[in-house]
Amino acid sequence: MSKILITGGTGLIGRHAAKLLCERGHAVRILSRRSAPDVPLLRGLPIEYVQGDVREPASLRPAFNGCDAAVLSHQFQNFPVENPKRNETFDAVDRAGTEHCVAAAQSAGLQRLVYISGIALSNPNPPHPGIRAKLAAERAVFVGGISAVALRVNVVYAADDKYFPRLARAARWSPFVPIPGSGASRCAPVHVDDVAHAIAHAVEHTAIHGVINVCGPDEVTWKELILAVAQTGAARRRIPLHIPAALLFLAGWIGERLPTPPLSRDAVVFATQFDQSCRSGTGCVEAFGFRPVGLREGLRKAFGADCR
Ligand SMILES: NC(=O)c1ccc[n+]([C@@H]2O[C@H](COP(=O)([O-])OP(=O)(O)OC[C@H]3O[C@@H](n4cnc5c(N)ncnc54)[C@H](OP(=O)(O)O)[C@@H]3O)[C@@H](O)[C@H]2O)c1
Repeated sequence: MSKILITGGTGLIGRHAAKLLCERGHAVRILSRRSAPDVPLLRGLPIEYVQGDVREPASLRPAFNGCDAAVLSHQFQNFPVENPKRNETFDAVDRAGTEHCVAAAQSAGLQRLVYISGIALSNPNPPHPGIRAKLAAERAVFVGGISAVALRVNVVYAADDKYFPRLARAARWSPFVPIPGSGASRCAPVHVDDVAHAIAHAVEHTAIHGVINVCGPDEVTWKELILAVAQTGAARRRIPLHIPAALLFLAGWIGERLPTPPLSRDAVVFATQFDQSCRSGTGCVEAFGFRPVGLREGLRKAFGADCR
């Protein structure tokens, strides 16, 4: 049994990892910007919350002290729409925040780091600030002198994520399903339970090092994924309604000029143009010896209905 700190432990991936690590007998501590977060999935579990912010190094010391390992799973609020005025950016939170966490882990003498990264990093030399930040964060984790794994996680879906359940609910009432851009980018969606299992394996098997993909076994386009999720909540076949990329970029350009941006051009690129194919396999089988659930079974598990 280890004492494990989870940054982003109140978020989607972090809270599922926290629950599983608790169930496996580890002592779990969560870093949150809030003093007493209420996370329904974690109610009743013996989890310790420590207030802190990855942008403020001094706030991290009490969180890392006394821990054996850390899972770094933070991302800025309203991701992937940056808000530079509030310092909610890829660079401030993903890159610098992770560098601060590595420094705090070094001074607290942690023995293991698991960084939650993204699969889109396999895109060749992209200029996007999100990819630059994640690559810099991965570098920081690996040069810190602590045994480390970066899990490059594909698109995650779950009954309690921010996007797909809303889409499934909306599709019960509307025959039309909005598809950002052409929807032709590819991904290999993975159920959140499989991501949590990958994290638990990565924490516990300290002989495993380096970058590991965490992908589902079925590769689809974004359009196929969105329609499959929409179909889980709908009796009749849903009709795709493409939102032209040019219109999305115009909305992003306008959004960036508002005090609290609802959309940005970088967020549009993030949502429409990244290839998230998992050509080298799911990663979980090769590195951890378990097979993630297929998309059909996973959607049934997440949304409780068959995907037609
Ligand atoms: N979800 C996906 O499909 C997906 C796919 C691939 C990779 N990833 C990566 O996985 C990681 C986790 O993603 P997620 O979807 O689980 O995130 P999420 O649900 O959006 O949660 C974000 C978490 O970050 C914390 N946070 C935000 N700003 C912070 C700050 N300044 N200091 C400390 N904590 C802060 C929040 O905690 P409080 O609000 O409690 O402070 C929250 O727990 C990210 O690195 C993301 O890029 C996600």
